[in-house]
Amino acid sequence: MTTAGTGRFGAILDRIEKETAALDERGRPADYIPLLAGADPRRFGMAVAEPDGTVYGVGDWRQPFSTQSITKVFALTLALSLDGERIWHGVGREPSGNPFNSLVQLEYENGIPRNPFINAGALVVTDRLQTLTGDAAGLIRELLRTESGNPAIDFEPAIAASEAARGDRNAALAHFMASYGNIANPVPDLLAAYFQQCSITASCADLALAAGFLARQGVRADGSALLTRSQAKQINAVMLTCGTYDAAGEFAYRVGLPGKSGVGGGIIAVVPGVCTLCVWSPGLDQRGNSVAGVAALDRFTTLTGLSIF
Ligand code: DON
Repeated sequence: MTTAGTGRFGAILDRIEKETAALDERGRPADYIPLLAGADPRRFGMAVAEPDGTVYGVGDWRQPFSTQSITKVFALTLALSLDGERIWHGVGREPSGNPFNSLVQLEYENGIPRNPFINAGALVVTDRLQTLTGDAAGLIRELLRTESGNPAIDFEPAIAASEAARGDRNAALAHFMASYGNIANPVPDLLAAYFQQCSITASCADLALAAGFLARQGVRADGSALLTRSQAKQINAVMLTCGTYDAAGEFAYRVGLPGKSGVGGGIIAVVPGVCTLCVWSPGLDQRGNSVAGVAALDRFTTLTGLSIF
């Protein structure tokens, strides 16, 4: 499904879709979550949402996929909105330079993860949300539903179970941080909430709309404030420096926008004041970022001249 001529960037999206179809190297789907391993790396979708809620896209832009780490942006948003600066007591905001599921820094940094977008940091954020509300994953799902206007967004229990079955590394991270007193909830409860959060399924259209508050300086779709202008800036900044893990430098170099990837093959990106983008293609590079997704965002900023730089 294409929408040439629809919206400000319709013709550019059509061009990117054609160029992406010609890409030979597509990467490989994540295989450490068995249910993601069978995804077809040739699938591709891309959506743009403008600040007024107009949304359009190309390819599989309405196809729901596994959001995975993209939910870390919405979890951090809720933590900042509910709890303000306190979240930074348990997690830093510096790039890690390490893979998203790495354990190495945690010991010599006393159980405080580098940032909220690597798995260890996301576990701290979900733990705090769980303490504050009793239902971290439910709250994240609600935020996605409200901001996208799609009440059908939901968990995918089979994906959560598939990840839990191979969850040893996340369990190790959580137990290790608990040994430093940086996790408040029982680790099995925290892991269940985290896997549920990661299992949320949504489309490029849903996610581009749901992230709209990041292009609107913290203002929700209904015009009310979710974050202060300053907090929206802070989240965009952490996405730029940490959103694509140990490839954040390369992503900033190629794309030049705040972005957040997930191992389901999705990436959201923000052009503050102008639009939010979401791309999906399940083939990943070595660092867990969608190959065609990064290429498409690279083309978008090159063809439009839009970036934060
Ligand atoms: O915890 C995990 O490993 C996955 N649920 C999420 C990781 C992820 O999406 C990293 N993204 N590139």
